[in-house]
Amino acid sequence: MDQKYEDFKRQVRDSSDIVDVISGYITLQKKGRYYWACCPFHGEKTPSFSVDRERQFFYCYGCHTGGDVFSFVQKIENCTFPEAVKTLAGRANIPIPETHRTAADIRREKKRQDMYTVNDLACRYFAACLHKTEHGVRALEYFHNRGITDEIIRQFSLGYSLPGFHSLQFNLIKKGCTMDQLKSAGLVRDKNGRCTDMFMNRVMIPIKDPRGKVIAFGGRVMDDGLPKYLNTGETDIFLKRETLFGLDVAIKAIREAKEAVVVEGYMDAISLHAVGITRVVASLGTAFSEQHAKLLHRITDTVVFAYDSDDAGRRNAVRAVGIAKKEGMTVKVLNVPEGKDPDEYVRHFGRDAFEELIKNAWDGTEFQIRYTISKNNITDLAGKVRCVSNIIPYLQECKTEIEAAGYIKFLAQQLVIDEGLIMGEYRKRTANRSMKQNPIAVPDVRVADSVPNAVKQAESKLLLLFFQYPGMIMDCRDILNEVGFVSPVRQSIYEKISNMENETFSGIQERLFAEGDGEINSEIARILSGENLASAEEERVKIADDCIRLMHRNFLLREFEDHRRLADTYASMNDARYVEELKICNELRGKITNLYGS
Ligand code: UTP
Ligand code: MN
Repeated sequence: MDQKYEDFKRQVRDSSDIVDVISGYITLQKKGRYYWACCPFHGEKTPSFSVDRERQFFYCYGCHTGGDVFSFVQKIENCTFPEAVKTLAGRANIPIPETHRTAADIRREKKRQDMYTVNDLACRYFAACLHKTEHGVRALEYFHNRGITDEIIRQFSLGYSLPGFHSLQFNLIKKGCTMDQLKSAGLVRDKNGRCTDMFMNRVMIPIKDPRGKVIAFGGRVMDDGLPKYLNTGETDIFLKRETLFGLDVAIKAIREAKEAVVVEGYMDAISLHAVGITRVVASLGTAFSEQHAKLLHRITDTVVFAYDSDDAGRRNAVRAVGIAKKEGMTVKVLNVPEGKDPDEYVRHFGRDAFEELIKNAWDGTEFQIRYTISKNNITDLAGKVRCVSNIIPYLQECKTEIEAAGYIKFLAQQLVIDEGLIMGEYRKRTANRSMKQNPIAVPDVRVADSVPNAVKQAESKLLLLFFQYPGMIMDCRDILNEVGFVSPVRQSIYEKISNMENETFSGIQERLFAEGDGEINSEIARILSGENLASAEEERVKIADDCIRLMHRNFLLREFEDHRRLADTYASMNDARYVEELKICNELRGKITNLYGS
């Protein structure tokens, strides 16, 4: 093991208090010994996500996810363990040891850094062109005419690209950038070896990541020219489906209002911010994605889509609602009247009128239903049936059956048909679907259920005891090696700790979390969330004894069952080996009765 890296990891762990780190993602509330929140990993309305500061782990009683600070970051950032260590190191300002960066790491990191630098320089250059050049005057006028104040121009770092073919490249190369860097940042395009600026004579809108670093640009013409917007293509630091425009400035307001408003366009977002509605981000013409939903869900539970009221906008909204519902969010859709987009509406009617629209927003599913009805001819029964059939998938996206049932009632009223008919169709389709999607769900449940609860509890209790008193492992080793744990996860936890008898409690915890995968870490956290066990030695030994007896008895019973089944099979095949099996059965039965009574 690389000692330097081990020290580094320890240093990172020591400077990353789990409550502080998790508070950076979600709001925790202290109740008693634990901190609580609604779980960021599954949708829920009452908090079952707990964080234990003393023991530095988290555990969700709802979805059974758990682990230490590294597991949390891995899960919420969807990254690997080394990446989680790096993220936390960055947060705590701890330099990553040179030895632990591969040459490829360094190259990749350098390329990304360069990309940020180039984008930042370009952003400053465009801003300077807006404020300090003659051409910029027209661009500034353009912004002002659209109701965008200097304050907003500054906050969003808006700018302007000069009409020349090479203005940006001349300037940035003078500042030390290379042509390759400009090309890979998407600021310069190569036409048969002739490099021209990507953006010319456009007002420039930088796209930033949630930390406020510029990662791309959109540029708009100032007249009716085409294309209306040019955007940087995807790069290493700019993935459209993961980027929400304006999130860097909106993030606080979204947290505070516990609600995010999502619009389609740059200008919609900027205009709403300009009138003081600041919990707004834009999905930038790309379809609202699962990643967008995840990104928002880390900050809030409620999302309001304020898409254009034209047909394309409404169609996009129906899809977006589905995605946000699947992510477990509360979803609303507002209806911008008179065919306006949010930017036009708010500039015409003002802030309060738009807030009123948000307040009156339709629930997401209601919107999906209303939209589908408006798209179908429902004058005859065939049309109504087709309409119901189109709507059922939206009902299936609902969190609960009760919710779905509520909408079925609503739909029946809208279509003036019998509620029972729709319910019947919904049931039929839902049953089919769950069979297709999850063909092995049924046997799975049976296996889990066949293990008595008492055995599961005994296994957990025993492991917790071992965590607390590693010295006890040695005395139990022989019998446990024979009996084993029913659950493969707990078995591997046991195998991991079986040679840690000289470790301390926190040492064991630390090593386990570091070595375990997601499933193992969740199980460890679940076990740790149990009550602390008695400290008197006598009592401890008794607890271990009781647990092991239960596990042993269950082990013998299972052996017995296996041999009995085998005996049956041989008997039905007239195979003489059944005699042998029956003998084993009898021995096992004797042993069980002997040890544990009948
Ligand atoms: P819109 O056409 O609704 O633009 O496209 P907008 O935001 O209302 O812009 P204004 O008010 O006319 O200035 C919505 C979004 O789709 C993307 C942009 O992100 C835009 O904000 N888009 C649109 C493009 O990328 N390219 C285009 O040519 C048009
Ligand atoms: Mn617009």
